[in-house]
Amino acid sequence: MKKTALIFGVTGQDGSYLSKFLLNKGYVVHGVKRRSSSINTIRIDDIYQDPFLKKKNFILHYGDVTDGTAVFDIIKKTKPNEIYNLAAQSHVAVSFKIPEYTSNADALGSLRILDSIVKLNKKIKFYQAGSSEMFGKVQTFPQNEKTPFYPRSPYGVSKVYSHWITINYRESYKIFACNGILFNHESPLRGETFVTKKIVKGLCNIKNGTQKKLYLGNLYSKRDWGHAQDYVEAMWMILQYSKPEDWVISTGKQYSVKQFVNLVAKYLKLKITWRGNGINEKAFLNKRPIIEIKKEYFRPADVENLKGDASKAKKILKWKPLKDINYLIKDMVEYELNQIHNV
Ligand code: NAP
Ligand code: GDD
Repeated sequence: MKKTALIFGVTGQDGSYLSKFLLNKGYVVHGVKRRSSSINTIRIDDIYQDPFLKKKNFILHYGDVTDGTAVFDIIKKTKPNEIYNLAAQSHVAVSFKIPEYTSNADALGSLRILDSIVKLNKKIKFYQAGSSEMFGKVQTFPQNEKTPFYPRSPYGVSKVYSHWITINYRESYKIFACNGILFNHESPLRGETFVTKKIVKGLCNIKNGTQKKLYLGNLYSKRDWGHAQDYVEAMWMILQYSKPEDWVISTGKQYSVKQFVNLVAKYLKLKITWRGNGINEKAFLNKRPIIEIKKEYFRPADVENLKGDASKAKKILKWKPLKDINYLIKDMVEYELNQIHNV
């Protein structure tokens, strides 16, 4: 019998890659999308199936993780073997602007799913999309499953709640509930306000002459950036392991935002030079400033130094990241240039 998966957050970057990954594995995939006044399914357009088809293996349902009744009803109706909770207000900076909504979706959302699992069928496996943001003001370097959490945003705090409620339900009700603690992962499908996509899109537009300047915040923040395709495979592997556990997924390599800018500029053959310090630091192209720093893009509290240690997943799950930062940049830039040339 085919396995059935239910993905909350199916319209997001990871939801799109995970859907395709599971369909390739022969799963029937159900996805939860939010009602919106404009189309929000662009990332899954290529796998969309006519709802009137008799034999479908990709089926969408309206729902929202802030709505406990809908969550319960969708799980009851779809009878999944596996649930992936990817639904979240996932922008850290935005979480300072809408902390209450972020907590409702990112903390209580997971509780609503877990509680439905316990009430409906304790055999359903559950994956919670945890984040390296939970390490925040990092207490060890690099960070692994034993590193204490010190979240620095309403987003990070909400994800810590989800992490612990997942463990609590696993221990209390003996369900197969797991946390992935994933470090930043990017792709051509990344949301446009995350820093990698913003840099790639901005520099491609500057090269094309359709944008004059790119405004950024903290250039010295360091991240461990992987490719989303590698990371959705890890999510699936986590649920196939013999025991429900918690796993760090990362590349183990670290770059600053400024290094990421330099790598993208190099790939695009844009010869930029940096001058100035702090808020006055600028990148110039042919003596013209093309990147400037704006204090509005700094966060009330930032996470400055993330680098993961995924030894456990490498050793036990035999997972490893196949795509490095150079592949990631090539993939993101080529996609963006294609978009520009197809307009
Ligand atoms: P994303 O592109 O922002 O996608 C988030 C998804 O959640 C979208 O489908 C979004 O729907 C949906 N969503 C938001 N609020 C919801 C709600 N109240 N009810 C139902 N669905 C809701 O994020 P991503 O990069 O794919 O990340 C997937 C998950 O992994 C998130 O939980 C994120 O916090 C976590 N994570 C991401 C990373 C990373 O680097 N990408 C690292 C660690 C953890 P709309 O399309 O309608 O907005
Ligand atoms: N977004 C953004 N925009 N970030 C900027 C900018 C800018 O203009 N300039 C500098 N940064 C810095 C941020 O201050 C942060 O330190 C870093 O770039 C990365 O920011 P984001 O790309 O927004 O990602 P994030 O690390 O805050 O959060 C992402 O990764 C988490 C995993 O660690 C999100 O995907 C989260 O959902 C995920 O949990």
